[in-house]
Amino acid sequence: MAEPTSDVELFLDIAPEADTMEADVRIGLSAKQPWLPSKYFYDARGSDLFDQICELDEYYPTRTERRILERILPELNALFPDPTVMLEYGSGSSTKTRLLLEHLGSLRGYVPIDISRDHLLSTGRALKTLFPRLSILPVCADYGQRIPFDWDAAGLGPLAQARRMVFFPGSTIGNFTRETAADFLMRMRDLVGAGGFLLIGVDLVKDESVLHAAYNDAQGVTAAFNRNILHHINDRLGSLFNPDAFRHEAIWDADHERIEMRLIANEDVTVRLGHDAYSIERDSFIRTEYSHKYRLDSFAELAGSCGFSTKHVWTDENQWFAVQLLEATPSTSR
Ligand code: AVJ
Repeated sequence: MAEPTSDVELFLDIAPEADTMEADVRIGLSAKQPWLPSKYFYDARGSDLFDQICELDEYYPTRTERRILERILPELNALFPDPTVMLEYGSGSSTKTRLLLEHLGSLRGYVPIDISRDHLLSTGRALKTLFPRLSILPVCADYGQRIPFDWDAAGLGPLAQARRMVFFPGSTIGNFTRETAADFLMRMRDLVGAGGFLLIGVDLVKDESVLHAAYNDAQGVTAAFNRNILHHINDRLGSLFNPDAFRHEAIWDADHERIEMRLIANEDVTVRLGHDAYSIERDSFIRTEYSHKYRLDSFAELAGSCGFSTKHVWTDENQWFAVQLLEATPSTSR
């Protein structure tokens, strides 16, 4: 009989029942400075557009991080000699994840954490076929949720004793404000436990022209990605927005050291939702995303305040991007 290679089941399902898009849109549009949560970029088309962004000449983070990871694989192998379980927010379809699954010899288990059950199961099964000896334990949960992962639960066997490492690439940490980044880091620290690790990609502060080009590409892919948030909301809540009434802009906010993505209204816009109307004046904007950039010292300080000590920092020759290995210190230190 053939090896059962497609037997991946959800390991833990704690996805919230309710769909919160309408409430989220109301909250965002009621604010003095209107905003929309960046997670709503990513429907099928948005994910596709993001993949295209990653291939753009101007968008340096993806390839810079991938090159660093490729370069440090031997070091990572030396740093993780014992059985290791890797956890990741996302369903594991990225090439960076594959890179580690393929080359990190001590990996015994992989725990993808994602809101989409379908996506989790289909990529989980694909990974199981590619890596039949790896335990794939998909967790269906929202990013923002605390995950009550019971490592001693029956069924994990020797994996329960394995070293845990969260892989958090892509500078996704930059989407959080500095305060919410701290909350998220602490949650990851709780997930791996004392002695566990976080392997994280962090985009660094650099010349404004490089940053500006990365988020205002010549082909307009980022503009289409930004406006896609409106298409996605229209698809789910009815046609609230005319996407053509908005134009894309990404600005570098030097005070906060972050890129801010905006959709600027070309005309006075009224958004009707049920009995309510939200107005956006011509030339004002909806904020759709922050992308914070860090300095090595301030990131180490942030990590330290969240129960991590910085073990290794690897950067590229331009110091544009950093891959960092953080170790969770005993929780009494925070
Ligand atoms: C996937 C959130 C890291 O902030 O650079 C790319 C998203 N936005 N271009 C980033 C994004 C505009 C990206 N992250």
